[in-house]
Amino acid sequence: MRKKIVAGNWKCNTTVKEGVELAKSVNELVLSQGAKDVVVVLGTPFTHLTSVADAVDATRVNVASQNCAAEAKGAFTGEVSVSMVKSTGATYVILGHSERREYYHETSETLNKKLALTLEQELTPIYCCGEALSIREAGTQNQFVKQQLDETIFLLPAEQLLKIVIAYEPIWAIGTGVTASTQQAQDMLAFIRGLIASKYSSEVAEEISILYGGSCSPANANELFSQPDIDGGLIGGASLKAADFLSIINAY
Ligand code: PGA
Repeated sequence: MRKKIVAGNWKCNTTVKEGVELAKSVNELVLSQGAKDVVVVLGTPFTHLTSVADAVDATRVNVASQNCAAEAKGAFTGEVSVSMVKSTGATYVILGHSERREYYHETSETLNKKLALTLEQELTPIYCCGEALSIREAGTQNQFVKQQLDETIFLLPAEQLLKIVIAYEPIWAIGTGVTASTQQAQDMLAFIRGLIASKYSSEVAEEISILYGGSCSPANANELFSQPDIDGGLIGGASLKAADFLSIINAY
């Protein structure tokens, strides 16, 4: 049974105090009004993880880091390892976000190390993929996304792939207010699920949650989430407002 998941990605926003306030508001709303069958995740900056994990009810609100080190530990100044993330109480790690691929030059090779470390520590990777506008305009988005997956998570055996949540985020839709049309999002997610079915099996494909991300909002979440292959969303801007985030959680 695929899980429905709504994950917030706060990116580089909020101070610790603001983040804890936001997390408390989300927690309160989720406990009192949130759809019970939706897994809620808050992707916070590293500095906030412990305080946010302490502020929420772990049985209803999960915490994610937005990245992790590609090494387990050691002389890597400024890096935060997966075991450190785990020690905060966080249970998810967002990996391969397009902003990290683009601005911090994360390659498939680096991401494979991060995926392995995350799975080893039994945290759940939310693995992002998605194409730039030029690729969409050239009509080669399916090949591009397939390659991103072939070079990374599709190298894993089925039992590890089953522990991963996939998030498709077309770069042209992130933070732009331009959402992929419901059909574009559904088509890509169905394509990804089809790839999993042919590489692994249809049973594996039916178990994996695939999220859509990119200007997902209270206004469009319901239509997006009504699609057969869309199992939820990775939410940037709208996750910074507790009420908007709740509306998205309740959009199914
Ligand atoms: P957005 O960001 O919802 O602000 O478009 C989504 C993301 O980058 O995860």
